[in-house]
Amino acid sequence: MLLKGKKFAIFNIANKRSIAWAIAKEMDAHGAELILGYQSERTKDTVVSLLEELEKPPLALVACDVTSDEQLAAARDVAGQFGKIDGFVHCLAYAPRECLEEPFLQTSRENFWTALNISAYSLVGMAQAFRPILKNEASIIALSYFGAEKVMPNYNVMGVAKAALEASVRYLAYDLGVDQIRVNAISAGPVNTLAARGVSGFLGILDLHEKRAPLRRNVEACEVADTAVFFASKLSSGITGEIMHVDTGYNIMGM
Ligand SMILES: NC(=O)c1ccc[n+]([C@@H]2O[C@H](COP(=O)([O-])OP(=O)(O)OC[C@H]3O[C@@H](n4cnc5c(N)ncnc54)[C@H](O)[C@@H]3O)[C@@H](O)[C@H]2O)c1
Repeated sequence: MLLKGKKFAIFNIANKRSIAWAIAKEMDAHGAELILGYQSERTKDTVVSLLEELEKPPLALVACDVTSDEQLAAARDVAGQFGKIDGFVHCLAYAPRECLEEPFLQTSRENFWTALNISAYSLVGMAQAFRPILKNEASIIALSYFGAEKVMPNYNVMGVAKAALEASVRYLAYDLGVDQIRVNAISAGPVNTLAARGVSGFLGILDLHEKRAPLRRNVEACEVADTAVFFASKLSSGITGEIMHVDTGYNIMGM
């Protein structure tokens, strides 16, 4: 029970395969009280249907499209009804489908902006919006991918967005560190989710990863979630600005 008595907001759950849902289940099992986010009314019913799997109902469910400052503020206000919170998880990303199929060279200005806005700037916007209701010693956790560091064919502009997200983690860690608020990211190995399947050739990536990673298997979403619990808990109190690979070791390989 590493998170007993702690309150966390998690953005956003799309369905049962979402890494955000794995994190919700793990945080719930560790005693946390949760505010759970979904992007729009389109996904709300799916999220509601999952809730019976939790040990206790969430404090609140909240719609949060991160392209809207108003929705970020509204989500903050919903979470703030329960007093100050112990942190939030930023577990969302988006790039227009053609960006994940065509050569990176063809990325349009508009699509580049969309991907960076939703997948990277939103962490900054969320930190700004939630700052007034974060406790000192709160923990902010974001989700990244190795495509931020190395070229992953078809990941394209999402890799650029994840690089910006990882840099944002470090700059936010510096700014918020004065209040002992920590900001870290988990660089997860490939997990078969809705967003991941949007990357052309994703099943091939899963296959390759399984063969090449030192542990000779793909990471489970629950292992990513365990690391989120670690970053949310006091066990990681000395760690901030860190990008932790949870990828069955894939990133250490040269060949
Ligand atoms: N699945 C993987 O292989 C993998 C690997 C490393 C990192 N990640 C990261 O994990 C995070 C969660 O993705 P996932 O794989 O669980 O997929 P997912 O499809 O389950 O989740 C993506 C979420 O992003 C949300 N989203 C998209 N646009 C949004 C917007 N404008 N406003 C608010 N929310 C929006 C969707 O509603 C959805 O809930 C992402 O940051 C992703 O890049 C995934």
